[in-house]
Amino acid sequence: MEKILVTRQIPAKFKQRLEALGEVEMWDHHLTPMPRETFLQAAADKTVLLVTLSEQIDNALFQQAPHLKIIANMAVGYDNIDLVSAEQHGVVISNTPHVLTETTAELGFALMMAASRRLPEAIDYVQDGQWESWGPYLLAGKDIYHAKVGIFGMGEIGKAFARRLKGFNADILYHNRSRNTKAEHELGAFYTSFETLIRESDFVVCTAPSTPETQNKFDRSVFQMMRDDAIFVNIGRGDLVVEEDLVEALIAGEIAGCALDVVRDEPIRMDHPLLKQPNAIITPHIGSATVLTRDQMIQTCVLNIEDVVQGRPARNQV
Ligand code: GLV
Repeated sequence: MEKILVTRQIPAKFKQRLEALGEVEMWDHHLTPMPRETFLQAAADKTVLLVTLSEQIDNALFQQAPHLKIIANMAVGYDNIDLVSAEQHGVVISNTPHVLTETTAELGFALMMAASRRLPEAIDYVQDGQWESWGPYLLAGKDIYHAKVGIFGMGEIGKAFARRLKGFNADILYHNRSRNTKAEHELGAFYTSFETLIRESDFVVCTAPSTPETQNKFDRSVFQMMRDDAIFVNIGRGDLVVEEDLVEALIAGEIAGCALDVVRDEPIRMDHPLLKQPNAIITPHIGSATVLTRDQMIQTCVLNIEDVVQGRPARNQV
């Protein structure tokens, strides 16, 4: 019999599948994460954890929980997990790739469109009673049609984003650790250096994960290289951006705007200077948040747990 901890409320149908494997303890909250101490105590006797990005899975956890077999992370990214410690303690880690690709690309596209046509500003304008007449350049934005869009990170989500851009006749540039000639043929995307992508793009779209190579990649020098009418979109991870530098760049008019689904410290503090910039759009890390995709992510966690508990390799081991 397994002892399973689920750190967030999940639908009964998934909980029941886990109950077929053993005893399930679930933190019965949708929005409130388990406090760290509560989490460490609850994990101590468990063999299986189903966790979210809110949990830090570090050496302290592995030392506290010596019976663990698998930790299923309900995310494609796993920068919340110390993989070296996991390996040292012989614990399998799984993630949820593929199922969230299209959904996350769609949110990225929604952000790009919202920023390009200044939708939050326009909605506020009407709601604040400012709409008194039509003006030739009132809330004038920027076309995506025929624009140059630079994708930083041509993984699955980058490719799904590029597929959507084809319908807009955009010129697609990309930069990635390694060149992806298949994507170039299929999507008509051009591989460029990071600097060329930054200098030339109307829209710079970041879909890359957090790694030692990508952390703090977008600093003041990068924003200064961008066109002053460029829009920066981030659906990767917040720590790729030096946020003070982004704020400075927005204030100095070095770029035209940004749209971010991820920030360095989530949830964002209400006194964060980014929230004061009229040309910054921030959403609360909802890239994969459709009901279907969230169901599929939880199901993926359950399938990986079943794999390991029933003696098979986890299908999405990282
Ligand atoms: C979300 O950011 C994820 O990694 O799935």
